[in-house]
Amino acid sequence: MKIFSTRSEIQQYLTRLNGKTIGFVPTMGALHRGHISLIEQAKATNHVVVCSIFVNPTQFNDPKDLQNYPRPIAADISKLEAAGCDILFNPPVSEIYDDNEHWHLNIGQLEFLLEGEFRPGHYQGVTQVVYKLLDIVKPTTLYLGQKDYQQFMVVSRMVEILDIPVKMVMCPIEREVDGLAMSSRNIHLTADDRQHSLILSKTLNWLKTNFDIKNIFQLEQDAMAMLQSEPGVDPEYIEIADGKTLLPANENSISIVALTAARVGKTRLIDNVVIR
Ligand code: PAJ
Repeated sequence: MKIFSTRSEIQQYLTRLNGKTIGFVPTMGALHRGHISLIEQAKATNHVVVCSIFVNPTQFNDPKDLQNYPRPIAADISKLEAAGCDILFNPPVSEIYDDNEHWHLNIGQLEFLLEGEFRPGHYQGVTQVVYKLLDIVKPTTLYLGQKDYQQFMVVSRMVEILDIPVKMVMCPIEREVDGLAMSSRNIHLTADDRQHSLILSKTLNWLKTNFDIKNIFQLEQDAMAMLQSEPGVDPEYIEIADGKTLLPANENSISIVALTAARVGKTRLIDNVVIR
């Protein structure tokens, strides 16, 4: 695997690949099977796979979260090599951002709903860094996980607004055998938290199973009560949303997704399930 840490080096290398399709998987590292499934999907349909590892400071609204974000770079490199990734882009912050840089993209309501409400500014940071990374890598296809469903919708909206020539693919959520969605933040869970965290996937599955039995209002009330009754779990939201707009769904919505965020002990987790 080729490893680059500067824009100019990776760009120089990529321009020599003219005509080859590039699959791109942006990450913040601390790689797990979820990330690797994106690499595998990119590998299956592209000549070249590029992964980036960059812990993007502008998308963290909590400085402690940024500081504590795991950065096991040697283990990450081994995992990418084992998965057959061709190129890793691992720049320092100074390579991506100038001092006092400003960014604002109007993505409408999507920015303020759900995650946006609890993490103000988060999606401005995400669009800012994904825009920069797409500009450097110029991939044929961008692979993002369903795990961050709203992020996928936000980035799709940016690609549409700015008319960026890239195809987008959403990859399914990889889970532990007991149902917990894989996440780089799971390493912060204590043994007790780890047990309590299962209520997220359990509740989402319960919503899916009962969707045709109860009305949406009742389902959301019951689901919130299920999360609240689990010790050590402090839910932020659980919502049944339209799969395209992420506004509240109704029974006639064509695509429907249930999304949740909760603090489990000191760790904030998110998860979702596609209902329809
Ligand atoms: P990160 O959290 O490292 O995730 C990188 C990619 O892996 C995202 O597209 C995410 O949805 C996907 N992913 C995470 N957990 C997954 C799982 N359990 N199953 C499947 N896919 C999973 O998302 C980010 O980084 C950043 O916001 C980024 C897009 C890199 C911009 O900084």
